Amino acid sequence: MIKISPSVLSSDFSILGAEAARMEKSGADMLHLDVMDGSFVPNITFGAPVISAIKKCTPLKFDVHLMIDKPLRFIKDFAQAGADIITFHTEAGSPVYETIEKIRSFGCVPSLCVRPSTSVEEVFPFLDKIGMVLVMTVEPGFGGQPFIEDMLPKIAQLRHECKKRGLAVDIEVDGGINEETASLAASNGANVMVAGSFVFKAPDAAEAISRIRSAAEKAYE
Ligand code: DX5
Ligand code: ZN
Repeated sequence: MIKISPSVLSSDFSILGAEAARMEKSGADMLHLDVMDGSFVPNITFGAPVISAIKKCTPLKFDVHLMIDKPLRFIKDFAQAGADIITFHTEAGSPVYETIEKIRSFGCVPSLCVRPSTSVEEVFPFLDKIGMVLVMTVEPGFGGQPFIEDMLPKIAQLRHECKKRGLAVDIEVDGGINEETASLAASNGANVMVAGSFVFKAPDAAEAISRIRSAAEKAYE
């Protein structure tokens, strides 16, 4: 099943709560929240207190993408702020199994992220312990970058591995998603589409979401 997760990175930060509610009304399945610390990636966004404030404005599931060093330190804070899915990077300097277990202990879904320079095999040892893998289709740090098509074989390889092992893991793509790239990603096995600028900068967010959804649904299996 295809799910659309608009990234608030491209929203109007002065009215974050209203932007979250607008995505809910526009048909989003969840909300993608990019947490950046200025060290793991060269940009700074927001942390748990901001997520906790937005949580009051919508019942949407919160898909929290941690681009921070040593994420294990902050799992409790993000879980208590209202995260439903917590994605972290294997390269971020926290023990992977321990971080997965910590996320699970708070009732959240653990997810691992693969950035463009990281091989997808890095997440294979953890596939039976997580609910989702996020394949970055841009270098993490900024919205509005073009989709890197070279990432498509990674998505296909990951879907193949999940099928081979009988695992129903969601595959999320993040970066440069629009209706064309959503179709490419879905035809290679991705089923969760993050979209920042394409949705938030569109004159009609509901139409943008439905265009991504129908392109992906047509292409997926
Ligand atoms: C980039 C973030 C993305 C970003 C995507 O590091 O992880 O979630 O918001 O933005 P677009 O869809 O504009 O590429
Ligand atoms: Zn993201």
